[in-house]
Amino acid sequence: MSVRGASGSGSPWRWLRGLRARLALSISLILVVTLGTAFVATYRGTGTQVRNQIDDDLRTDAQAVDQRLGYDVRPRALGEAADAYLQDRFSFGASARLYLIKIRGGGDVSNLSELNPAEGDQRVGRDVLGPRRESDEARALRTAKLGFSTVRVNDEPLRLYFISARRAGREVALIGVGESAASVGRAQSGVARTFLVAGTVTLLAAIALGFVLASRLSRPLRRMASTAAEVTAGDLSQRIGSRRPRDEVRVLSDAFDSMLDRLENAFARQRGFVADASHELRTPLTVIRGQLEVLARQRDVSREDVRHVDEVVRTEVLRMERLVEDLLLLARADEGELVRAHSLDLAPFVEELFDSLTLTADRRFELGRLPQGRLIADEDRIAQVVRNLARNAVEHTGPGGLVRLTVKPIGRNRVELAIEDDGPGIPAEQRDRVFDRFHRTDSARARRTGGAGLGLAIARAIVEAHGGRISAGTSPEGGARVAFELPGFRAAGRRAGREPSART
Ligand SMILES: Nc1ncnc2c1ncn2[C@@H]1O[C@H](COP(=O)(O)OP(=O)(O)OP(=O)(O)O)[C@@H](O)[C@H]1O
Ligand SMILES: [Mg+2]
Repeated sequence: MSVRGASGSGSPWRWLRGLRARLALSISLILVVTLGTAFVATYRGTGTQVRNQIDDDLRTDAQAVDQRLGYDVRPRALGEAADAYLQDRFSFGASARLYLIKIRGGGDVSNLSELNPAEGDQRVGRDVLGPRRESDEARALRTAKLGFSTVRVNDEPLRLYFISARRAGREVALIGVGESAASVGRAQSGVARTFLVAGTVTLLAAIALGFVLASRLSRPLRRMASTAAEVTAGDLSQRIGSRRPRDEVRVLSDAFDSMLDRLENAFARQRGFVADASHELRTPLTVIRGQLEVLARQRDVSREDVRHVDEVVRTEVLRMERLVEDLLLLARADEGELVRAHSLDLAPFVEELFDSLTLTADRRFELGRLPQGRLIADEDRIAQVVRNLARNAVEHTGPGGLVRLTVKPIGRNRVELAIEDDGPGIPAEQRDRVFDRFHRTDSARARRTGGAGLGLAIARAIVEAHGGRISAGTSPEGGARVAFELPGFRAAGRRAGREPSART
């Protein structure tokens, strides 16, 4: 099975939800907005700049005409001055402007022949808008108001500026100057063209870059997804093994790998546990079947034979019962519902427990001095731990061997219970592993007595469920010492505990 990023079945637009598409789209969107804003600003700025330039030119021109009209305010003199000015302009030959000078009490002077009939065709200049449409321009010029105005002539904007020429407080003429404002549009469409080309190229580059970037970013994620898809309970060996620099993605893939490590371990332990449990259950079943087969094969079955088989079968069934109970208990410990703690008076609890232990075997049982106080714990479970430890001590000592229970407070709110014996002890290198499920030391295995190797595992599960710790060591007599520490102890006053006692 393989996982292919965000693509797959379903809606044809699903790929759009992939990281790559989304990043590329986001970058493009940001770019479009940025370019759009820049475009609007530049487009308008260009328009304003060109228009201002035209207005400045018109104003300068109108003022120049005003000056050239001079101070002789007779209409004729004014007309001549205006004529002379226009002649001069055209002698330079480059103007595309329109001029109209209306002289009060005199005629109009213009470089537009239609408005200057007296001079005929003599002065038809280079009009902006061509000869066929002169009447429109003429009308626009004639009807314009003072100041700036824009009119549309022949589908193009014409900018006009009119001032009144005054001499000694009296208006002697109106001066109008006009120029096509088509250059504004031309400049703006130039800007638009530039933006369109540059913007498209940048946008395409950004989309490609976004796609590549997101591909690089999401590659490890896609690999993680396909690794995860390949992981099954049967094969937990897959790893991402990322070698990229320690960024967020690397942290994620490392966490993923170490999760797989833990899962693989847990599964291995689980498998081992199931194998061991089956093995332990099979042994008594084999014994029972063997016994029954022997019985079935016999012709004359005596009461004695039946009693023997009954005894063996009963023992094996008891073993199985205990084993199943232990397994159930460990399963419950795994689910975290093992312990129901409440406050108990420690000394009487330990005394009672000790008394019940001493009935089990022919050993020298000793109980150390008991601290007074209350402990928050599950008494049935703690009793089970102590019994498991005591049973081990009994199993590893002979008749008359020492089994000692000691209890002592540790710090302000902890208490340690220990079972010591004078048996062979637990080899130092085994002291951690004896708490593993189904772990037995070689000598215990060789004897093929005792249990399945679950007693200490159960003890550890119970102690840890209480928030405590358990460990194995050496007793003063050189035997084993298995001790566990529990939190939740509160010492009571300074009353002396029960004197040490010994029982055999
Ligand atoms: N007091 C002890 N002295 C020497 N070895 C011990 C002692 N207690 C435990 N061990 C070793 O630790 C191993 C694990 O003990 P544990 O109680 O878990 O299993 P078990 O006693 O073999 O079986 P179970 O307790 O399930 O009946 C034992 O097999 C034994 O080898
Ligand atoms: Mg045991």
